Amino acid sequence: MDRLTDHERTGLELDDIQSGALHERPSPYVGRYLLLRIDDRAAGRELVRRLLPAVDSGSPSADPSRDAWVTVAFSFRGLEALGVPQESLDSFDPLFKQGMAARATELGDVGESSPEHWEKPLGTSDVHVALAALSPDATRLEAVADRARLAYERLPGIDVIWRQDCYQLPTGRTSFGFKDGIGQPAVEGSGIPATNRNEAPLKAGEIILGYRDETGELPPMPLPDVLGRNGTYVVFRKLHTRVAAYRQYLRAKAANREEETLLGAKLVGRWQSGAPLALSPEEDDPELGADRERNNDFLYGDDPRGFKCPAGAHARRANPRDALDDDGSVDVRLHRMIRRGTSYGPMLPEDVLEDDGADRGIIFVFAGAHLKRQFEFVKTQWLNDGIFIGAPAERDPLVGPNDGSGMFTIPKRPIRRRLQELPPFVVTRGGEYCFAPGLRALRWLAELET
Ligand code: HEM
Repeated sequence: MDRLTDHERTGLELDDIQSGALHERPSPYVGRYLLLRIDDRAAGRELVRRLLPAVDSGSPSADPSRDAWVTVAFSFRGLEALGVPQESLDSFDPLFKQGMAARATELGDVGESSPEHWEKPLGTSDVHVALAALSPDATRLEAVADRARLAYERLPGIDVIWRQDCYQLPTGRTSFGFKDGIGQPAVEGSGIPATNRNEAPLKAGEIILGYRDETGELPPMPLPDVLGRNGTYVVFRKLHTRVAAYRQYLRAKAANREEETLLGAKLVGRWQSGAPLALSPEEDDPELGADRERNNDFLYGDDPRGFKCPAGAHARRANPRDALDDDGSVDVRLHRMIRRGTSYGPMLPEDVLEDDGADRGIIFVFAGAHLKRQFEFVKTQWLNDGIFIGAPAERDPLVGPNDGSGMFTIPKRPIRRRLQELPPFVVTRGGEYCFAPGLRALRWLAELET
């Protein structure tokens, strides 16, 4: 048994799982998202057939060209357009069938973030296929994007209906100025080492369908087996960030620049460098922030009241780690997720406080086996609400649906600090619930006959 690799023990079929589901994106990166509409069933199947050689598997490889890859995923409407049999369509997650726009009220996508204001065609029934190409540099991006282009170009019945380019900002950080993509769960059998030694790797079934999850069960898997196995649900959201509003808010609340930086870190739970407040509560520690071995290696148990990292900080809400252990009703491991977010749009130059009108933000990407208890649970119970931390009036200060009336509590001795009148810093521009099948499943889709 000891001689078996981690992969052999779980039997995770890495050569059948799409690369994008398991591999960290390169850093730096450039990427492109495309959405396609299928107007003709046969053309749709031909598209999938042509895409097959463009899609990489998740098997480990030392080949540097493997740092660049294409991921393909389908909306429920896309599977319908391909002519997937009804019995199979019926077997998918009910939330996936509804699609993201239908979940807007539950998700807090209201007001400016509501689907009626979304960027078209996001949220419409035209979105069938999502393609993502990611690469460490522009040259290699063009090479992988070309592989995908060969699949959809000159194929009547297939139209590219949306394109979004993305790239890591020169700072290596996202538009608000913070390093992102640090807190990720390790997945048993993926071969990717854990970054938090305090957390056992997640059972593969939490992320990839066809394997046991943390409850010991096999999560519901779409039928037939060949279609569901090794697939994963994917959520993508285009999230516009109001960087000028964020900077103005901090400027107004802080006495000086140091305090501005500290308040920003309190909102996020990490300093801009990525150093966690849990390990470096007083000041930024860029060396810690950059150190993959240490920057995610912590818990919150020694800070129950949030003096180091407020319970309401974005990263602590999104993954409270051991902070909820006393409340036996919540098992944090059932609410983890893989994130593959990327930045889009130009950076707002440092120190600029006026909005320049540019569209910038994050393409948030989730991968996991459970839309409801992972993505939707975290979004609705932990980011949009504060009941679980005993602060029902508070929402996530950075990404929650704030409307100018919300507040954020920073525990502090002798008295806590409260930031009032939080405006919305993030506006949803649209998104979709998708399914990224395994490679055999793609072949099955390409070969559908009726
Ligand atoms: C524009 C919107 C968002 C921004 C700017 C943002 C930014 C960040 C930042 C800076 C971090 C800390 C660095 C890291 O651990 O990667 C973080 C962590 C995280 N965020 Fe977000 N985020 C956004 C939206 C979301 C949404 C919508 C979700 C989930 C529904 C989410 C879930 C998480 C999770 C799970 C973590 C990791 C927590 C941990 O393991 O410690 N984020 N985010």
